[in-house]
Formats: sequence, structure tokens, C-alpha cells
Amino acid sequence: MPVNAGARPRRIALIGCGWAGLRHARGYIGAGAELRWLIDTDAERAEGLRRELGAAGATQVGTDYREALRDPATDAVDICLPHDLHAPIAIEATGAGKHVLCEKPLAATLEEADRMIAAAGRAGVVLMVAENVRFDPVFGKVGELLRDGVIGMPALVQLARECYLRASFMRDRPWFLDARAAAGGIMMSGGVHDFSLLLSLLGEVESVHALRAPQRFAEMQGDDTSVALVRFRNGAIGTLVESFLMKSLTTAAGPEIHTLRIDGDLGSLTVGADRRIRLFSERADYQPGGGLVAHEFHIPEADTFALEIEHFLAAIETGVEPLTSGRSQRAALACVLAAYRSMETGQPVPL
Ligand SMILES: NC(=O)c1ccc[n+]([C@@H]2O[C@H](COP(=O)([O-])OP(=O)(O)OC[C@H]3O[C@@H](n4cnc5c(N)ncnc54)[C@H](O)[C@@H]3O)[C@@H](O)[C@H]2O)c1
Repeated sequence: MPVNAGARPRRIALIGCGWAGLRHARGYIGAGAELRWLIDTDAERAEGLRRELGAAGATQVGTDYREALRDPATDAVDICLPHDLHAPIAIEATGAGKHVLCEKPLAATLEEADRMIAAAGRAGVVLMVAENVRFDPVFGKVGELLRDGVIGMPALVQLARECYLRASFMRDRPWFLDARAAAGGIMMSGGVHDFSLLLSLLGEVESVHALRAPQRFAEMQGDDTSVALVRFRNGAIGTLVESFLMKSLTTAAGPEIHTLRIDGDLGSLTVGADRRIRLFSERADYQPGGGLVAHEFHIPEADTFALEIEHFLAAIETGVEPLTSGRSQRAALACVLAAYRSMETGQPVPL
């Protein structure tokens, strides 16, 4: 069903005023939208965010998201909540006729994801996942290079997200330690970003075979380090490493390192923690002297939260399906859930 397109929605209800909520709030303010509601069951968090945002902040705070859904002036709802709450609250919000931007992952299960997509379709509202990695210009450039064929046919991809898990991260997010509320561990939280990226760069996934490392953080129920072997329908293979084992604060990227390497029959490219793309290609136009030459692209850092929020507001305005619609991000969730099934069974799981 087509989306009910309209004027730029100005009135947003932000549900969940934690780490992601702050970044989304700044995105709306930057985009000139009105934060009508700041909702958090922890009243001090909502008040604290209002204070932090100052004069540009929300007009109303509350602890019950239903207040914001009942408000006819709320145009759209932004969900920055523990993972098990994404589906129920998104479905209620679409039922109230509100457009929805939902933090990743789309949902905790595929059945929930399908109900969310169907509910948004019935209501004719936008359902978009806040998958900010897809708005990172460095990966946009990688996609452009792949489409241009500079490395030929991609055959091997290695993607790693390694994080330093600080005690403060766990203290501030008790829900993340609960495998039910978090719908898993790092393969869900980080892996869903990375499957979304891999799907956009290499196309559909055929199967996933995953392994979970011995648990390092006893306080966390979900996996704290896991690895997936991925086979793509186009024949390429890849590894996805998701780990909280890293101990480092020394990179420009801070306590998280995200690295990507793709090899094809004509060339290789890497994206390091410094965000530089390094490319070697045997294609004639990339070898001016007849031998391999290093090509470097430095893509400046962008505020991916601001970019995704601009995209969400534009999707509502134009009625064009967003890049990271619920429909499209269901595939990344399916890959993560396949990885978890594989960790349990020890077998590759087809998609
Ligand atoms: N895109 C990214 O890079 C990125 C980074 C971090 C988190 N996230 C995502 O953002 C979401 C939230 O994570 P976070 O790190 O901000 O967590 P957080 O714990 O910092 O914030 C969640 C907030 O939700 C509130 N809350 C819980 N239940 C509620 C309810 N029923 N109604 C209203 N408020 C409620 C909590 O009090 C808390 O303030 C998750 O989906 C997470 O995966 C995305």
C-alpha cells in the first residue's frame, strides 16, 4: 500500500531517552523538526535530555508512550528502546496512524517483523529502521567502487566489529545483559548492522554458519563474541566477526574498530579504522604505469544519525520507500537469527 505522503512532519515523539535517543533528538533539531514529546519510563532520563537539549528541546516529557500516541499532533514516533519493545510499540504507533523510525534491529523475531511491516502497510505510514551504518558515506563510496567493477567480481569479504566493552556501558544498560530484552548479544546488536551492510554490498545471503566464543562477560547472557561464515547467492564467501573482547582505546574511532576487506578477481579494497579506503586494482585504468598502484580515498566522518533522520523526514514527505525500510531490513534480521540458530545446532543455516 502506498504511504500517505505529506508535508514535512514537524512533530516527533521520541520514546527512549538514552544513548541513541540523545543522538536522534539532535538529528531532529538539526533538521528543523519539533520534538513534541520526550518519553522515558525513567522520568529523570527524559527530564535530563530536555535539559541537555535546552531551548530547542521538547515541549512535553512523559513516562508513558501512550500519551504521545493519543496526541493527535504527534506526526511520527521514534523508538530508541530495548530490542524486545521495538515491535509491540511500533505496531501500536502505526495503529495510531503515526510514522515510525525504529532503532535497529527491526524486531526480535521474523514473526514480529512481519507484523510490523503489515501494520505499517495497512496504516499507510512509513516504517524505517534507524540503520545508521547504511548512511555512512565511507560505505557509500565502497558500494560505488564495487558497482564500477574496480575489483571485478567480489569473492571474499572480511568484516569485523570489535568493541571495548566498558563496565559503564553495562551499568547504564541493564536490559542489554538480558538475552530476552536484547534478543541475543553482540551478533544481534552489532551483527545486524553488519549484515545490513553486507547485503547492500554483496547481495542476498544463501547461508550462515556461526560459532560463539567462550563467554568472557559472565554478567551478559547473550553472546559477547561470535563469528559467522557467510555464503552469498552470487557465490562469494565471507566472515563476520563481532566481538567485545578487544581492549583498546587508542584508535581514532575510539573503543570500537570496524574494518572491512573485499577481494575480487581484479582487485582488493580495505576500509581501516582510520576510514581510509585503500584500493589495488588490476583494471587498466587503475594501473597507469602497468603495475599495481595504491589508490586511497579518505572519506570524512559524517553524522550518520543526522543523515538517517533527514532521510526519514524526506521519506514521509515524498512517500518514497526509505533505503532502510522495515521491508528491506527484515533481511538483515533474518541473517542474524540464522546465525543464532547455527550457534545452537552447529550446522550452516540456509536462508
Ligand atoms: N545505531 C547505533 O549505532 C546504536 C547505538 C546504540 C544503541 N542503538 C540502539 O538504540 C536502542 C536503544 O539503545 P540505547 O543504547 O540508547 O539504550 P539506553 O538504555 O541508553 O536507552 C534506552 C532507554 O529506554 C528507556 N525505556 C525502557 N523501556 C521503556 C518503555 N517501555 N517506555 C519508555 N522508555 C523506556 C530506558 O529507561 C532507557 O532510558 C537499541 O535498539 C540499540 O540497539 C543503536
